[in-house]
Amino acid sequence: MHIIDSASSLQEHCRGHARDGRSIAFVPTMGFLHDGHLSLIEEGRRRAEILVVSIFVNPLQFGEGEDLDSYPRALERDGELCRQAGVDVLFVPNSVELYPGGFQTKVSVAGLAAGLCGAARPGHFDGVCTVVLKLLNLVHPDLAIFGSKDFQQLQVIRAMVRDLHLDLEVVGMPIVREEDGLAMSSRNAYLSPPERAQSLALVEALRLAEAMVEVGERNTESLREAVISHIQTRELAAIDYVELVDAATLEPSPVVFSAPVLLALAVRFGSTRLIDNRVLAPR
Ligand code: PAF
Repeated sequence: MHIIDSASSLQEHCRGHARDGRSIAFVPTMGFLHDGHLSLIEEGRRRAEILVVSIFVNPLQFGEGEDLDSYPRALERDGELCRQAGVDVLFVPNSVELYPGGFQTKVSVAGLAAGLCGAARPGHFDGVCTVVLKLLNLVHPDLAIFGSKDFQQLQVIRAMVRDLHLDLEVVGMPIVREEDGLAMSSRNAYLSPPERAQSLALVEALRLAEAMVEVGERNTESLREAVISHIQTRELAAIDYVELVDAATLEPSPVVFSAPVLLALAVRFGSTRLIDNRVLAPR
């Protein structure tokens, strides 16, 4: 496994593979790898000859007062996991490498990035798009792989790739969950034992909504109320948002829906903000 920390070396290395006609898969991450990341890495390994992974805690996508400084990091362990998973190139730049003095460009996707986490975390998706576009320009992959726990991020990146005519396939992978149902996230490491226990309210609320849709509920307000009431049974949970939106456009869904809706949740437990989602599709 090549470990590269310079942007120009990464670009040159990947150019060599492309010149030799090798396909490249790319998995961008912020590290502290878990089984969710490993599912993306396995998919990349399966689908291309060369697999590139990046680990970079991107300051541009964190707002003021968010957890940039405390974001969990375990570079050595992550490197070992990548090696075991058959990663060919691990890119581990520092902030100055990606944002040298004078850096002044921002990539912004308008509509899809406006609601949900975009509204709750102003500037977040500009930061995500900017770093993802930079990384795509360095790696030039045939495919880039993202998890769908960050459903909105995946849609925003798909829009950027389409709108800017980037020549790659964006692959979305299913959410990977702990045995008890909590969606895997590097931020789960912040949870105290009581918060961890109560965090199951998220997946329970998603299952509750799904069960309601299965028996014929089509009213998004009733679903939203049921989800909020369920989460509020846990005294450590503070709801950031519970939204039901059109799964394709992320625009507010009609009150009575007939096309798939995304149920998206963001809930704080102490200082830890967790997100989860499920697409509810009427049969
Ligand atoms: O999903 C993430 O971990 C990050 O948002 C990403 C895509 C690596 C960009 O920093």
